[in-house]
Amino acid sequence: PAPGWSIAADVVVVGSGVAGLTAALRCAAAGLSTVVVTKARLDDGSTRWAQGGIAAALGDGDTPEQHLHDTLIAGAGLCDEEAVRALVTEGPAAVHRLIATGAIFDTSAAGEIELTREGGHHRRRIAHAGGDATGAEISRALVEAALAAGLRTIENALVLDLLTDAEGRTAGVTLHVMGEGQHDGVGAVHAPAVVLATGGMGQVFSATTNPAVSTGDGVALALRAGAEVSDLEFVQFHPTVLFLGTDSEGQQPLVSEAVRGEGAHLVDAAGIRFMVGQHELAELAPRDIVAKAIMRRMREQGADHMYLDARHFGAQMWEHRFPTILAACRAHGIDPVTEPVPVAPAAHYASGGIRTDLQGRTTVPGLWACGEVACTGVHGANRLASNSLLEGLVFAERIAADIAERASLGALAAGPPQLPDTPCVLPLIDPDARAGIQRIMSLGAGVLRSAESLRDAAAALETVHSTAVSGDRAKNAEPGVDSWETSNLLCVARVLTAAAQERAETRGCHWREDHPDRDDTAWHRHLVVRIAPDRS
Ligand code: SIN
Repeated sequence: PAPGWSIAADVVVVGSGVAGLTAALRCAAAGLSTVVVTKARLDDGSTRWAQGGIAAALGDGDTPEQHLHDTLIAGAGLCDEEAVRALVTEGPAAVHRLIATGAIFDTSAAGEIELTREGGHHRRRIAHAGGDATGAEISRALVEAALAAGLRTIENALVLDLLTDAEGRTAGVTLHVMGEGQHDGVGAVHAPAVVLATGGMGQVFSATTNPAVSTGDGVALALRAGAEVSDLEFVQFHPTVLFLGTDSEGQQPLVSEAVRGEGAHLVDAAGIRFMVGQHELAELAPRDIVAKAIMRRMREQGADHMYLDARHFGAQMWEHRFPTILAACRAHGIDPVTEPVPVAPAAHYASGGIRTDLQGRTTVPGLWACGEVACTGVHGANRLASNSLLEGLVFAERIAADIAERASLGALAAGPPQLPDTPCVLPLIDPDARAGIQRIMSLGAGVLRSAESLRDAAAALETVHSTAVSGDRAKNAEPGVDSWETSNLLCVARVLTAAAQERAETRGCHWREDHPDRDDTAWHRHLVVRIAPDRS
């Protein structure tokens, strides 16, 4: 469909989590007219679900260098050291700016920021809020700041495609908007700078910690626009997600790493701590190692979950330190104060995404990306716990500074989008295909992968694609958010599976049963994907 309405701005930011709102607030503060578009409400999205916290070298005796070291180890040889250095050196000040923006972190009686530990960190380095509701507090503070700053926002707006002018420069985005009055239906925001901060793609799997909105929209858009995407095979599976049964699908409740950071034990059904002796950090090993150990124990014992035992915390500590997790467990009939919590790994975070440089620029001029949708190089093959909120903050600020500088040089310009505005190039997929795609991915490209499982997944996805494009399903697909999201899911599922097939080694969170070792001779490199813009 061609857009039925349009508005204009200097910058359009797509997404309203920590990365999107930080980028938008900083662009607006630099005097740029800025519009934020977001798929649901301003506070829907992954940020508000983040529990454990935000990592930064804030504590006595901690240094950015030590944070860098832990990040590089977790990243299993594939981090971009310069990007990590930017993250860890700019991180502490960025957290203080977030506090100045209004976020309230938990502090000691003396007023010091309280810090906890999580997997892969050799120190207490994780600032938290509301006990285990860090993301919710950050989201609250940023949404309030956005409203106070009078930022122009369009909610319930699914981004469709990138617009370009006659010279091929970025000129804005098309959107599908539901129920927002004058901006209803398919429309466009014309802008010479587009910042994608659309979050992750966890919904490509059956069970994930990600909310329903995490459908890979930004990566799919970037691929259609001809941008480079990197490291998609590195999907992080969080080791401790509340186990609600093998047939439980969609968003699953997280049990934060911080619970282990405060001393919880991972045990099997017999109560045996199986992480002890496996890694010097035991339960606080990097999360790929913990997830693999859980999967191995499950396989050895024919079990579908393990347990997290934190009965020794007692009721008071559970209520004070982990109120969100306590409430989620109790809502499902489990009382962590008196019984071990059943847990299993589930899809959690896309370590890869749209490839950017240190300024957050993608390979398409005028298109920037930050937050989970981006691959800045800080995560490598496995993100260090609680580095994601920090990455969103630091790189959003870098992007805003880059756009402001460009504007000050008079280099932020685009002609009118090609007219009629580029019609949506998304191939529509019947939303009924969604659950099938998710099951294919969980079965074949989940935490355990092999050449055979990935080949089966790729073949099944091709069948979904061809049926969708030429079969009855194509006739059933109505233009609408559900169909477009399903198209995006299928697009990222295919690319992710192809990358996982290609990488014939085990590294970080990519676990190939048929290639169980890390292979630095052949695979100390990234898999970068670019699709010619005329293909879907
Ligand atoms: C958690 O609280 O365990 C999540 C932290 C993260 O994903 O970085």
